[in-house]
Amino acid sequence: MQEVNVGIVGLGNVGTGTLAILTENAEQIALKLGFQLRVKALCSRSIAARKPTESDSVLRTNDWREVVAHPEVDIVAELVGGTSVAREIIDAAIAHKKSVVTANKELMALCGAEIWDRAIAAGINLAMEASVAGGIPIHTVLREGISGDRVTALYGILNGTSNYILTEIEKHGASFDDVLKDAQRLGYAESDPSADVDGYDARSKLAILAALAFGEKITPSDIYTEGIRRILPLDFQYAHKLGHTIRLICGAHQTSDGLILSVRPALIPQSTILAGVQGAYNAVWVRGKYGEDTFYYGRGAGAAPTGVAVVSDLMRVAREIRRGSPERVSPFAHQRLGEYKPIPVTLQHAAYYLRFRVVDRPGIIASLAGVLAAKQISLEAVLQLPSENRRDLPFVITVEPTSEQSIRVALAEMSAHDFLVEPPFAMPMEKSL
Ligand SMILES: NC(=O)c1ccc[n+]([C@@H]2O[C@H](COP(=O)([O-])OP(=O)(O)OC[C@H]3O[C@@H](n4cnc5c(N)ncnc54)[C@H](OP(=O)(O)O)[C@@H]3O)[C@@H](O)[C@H]2O)c1
Repeated sequence: MQEVNVGIVGLGNVGTGTLAILTENAEQIALKLGFQLRVKALCSRSIAARKPTESDSVLRTNDWREVVAHPEVDIVAELVGGTSVAREIIDAAIAHKKSVVTANKELMALCGAEIWDRAIAAGINLAMEASVAGGIPIHTVLREGISGDRVTALYGILNGTSNYILTEIEKHGASFDDVLKDAQRLGYAESDPSADVDGYDARSKLAILAALAFGEKITPSDIYTEGIRRILPLDFQYAHKLGHTIRLICGAHQTSDGLILSVRPALIPQSTILAGVQGAYNAVWVRGKYGEDTFYYGRGAGAAPTGVAVVSDLMRVAREIRRGSPERVSPFAHQRLGEYKPIPVTLQHAAYYLRFRVVDRPGIIASLAGVLAAKQISLEAVLQLPSENRRDLPFVITVEPTSEQSIRVALAEMSAHDFLVEPPFAMPMEKSL
């Protein structure tokens, strides 16, 4: 059977991982497909500096337009990232009626629905498995594996860097700043770590997964986002006392009013399967009305795991090209079911963990409890681990389930007290996991 040809734009982490797998695993891939999947063109800005390992018949260029326009390229793999050039590459590929595989979470979270509609109108295939949770085939799960179910909630640990930092703080009691420096030295965190530790990378991934799971139009701005910079080693000590641990949880759950979406650090029971997700690993937990809970775990990033996702997408698209059957329904645009409309996180009801650092003096607990009582928030427990430092004394109050809105109003009022060393810090306690 006639081969299908691929052009790769972007030869960084993911591009080189993809190329290595396509080359080393070519025989197995051809056996599985029944035809050859061949690399016909390669592009990166610095391609001239790269030692060629492929045959002379492969086009090597620093101009992505040559890949997109190459008459023999059937599928363009966009592995550049970002939202500007990547968008141009994908748009041009669609205009040239080339199918597209992308790993680009940022772009697909921002305008995936629009890109998908254009791809369908052009009759080409589009695939984006690698855009979320690198090595975990979660798109396929939502699009195919459990598509017969009706998803009611999805929880994930979707940023490996944050999870690595949190689990290192938990294991070694080191500060956020020290662990971040180590993570940067080891290559787990970027020199500008904001996208990871402030939750933006996880937010893009949740926007894509929630759109796929709930068939609703979800944009990153629908998702309440808070990073992990305020987590202290003592938060883990208190969390453990409460039988919990702390993870950056990406959550999307259905309520009777609509869909609540958030990326934020949360206390989760130590007994839950998500609590066992350590280091740079990712996990996704999906709850369905019929099939109930399913759980997916694996590497969230890295050249080889993400390369597997890209190559598997290339194989799927190659099969579809051969069979002449492009996707005709966008994963972003099922018939609207209505009940999944995103609603503000302030409508969420949960138990909360409130951590305070104060200059010690009599009457502090009474005045904080007074604020909670005035907002009809029921105090559950007060915890104070031994500490010598009376000028920066930590303690924790947990409260029974209440609305996020009430907690925010209470925290704003509490913040005015002059005995606080820093504003109070709140995290939801996820009881349903
Ligand atoms: N890294 C991961 O583990 C991972 C996991 C899942 C998804 N992703 C996604 O995969 C995509 C790629 O990530 P990455 O980590 O591989 O990025 P990267 O290491 O920064 O590589 C980007 C590549 O794109 C090339 N490039 C940039 N601008 C270009 C242009 N105008 N024309 C041609 N080539 C251009 C770069 O060329 P030069 O090297 O010559 O500058 C480089 O080869 C991103 O969307 C990312 O979010 C990454």
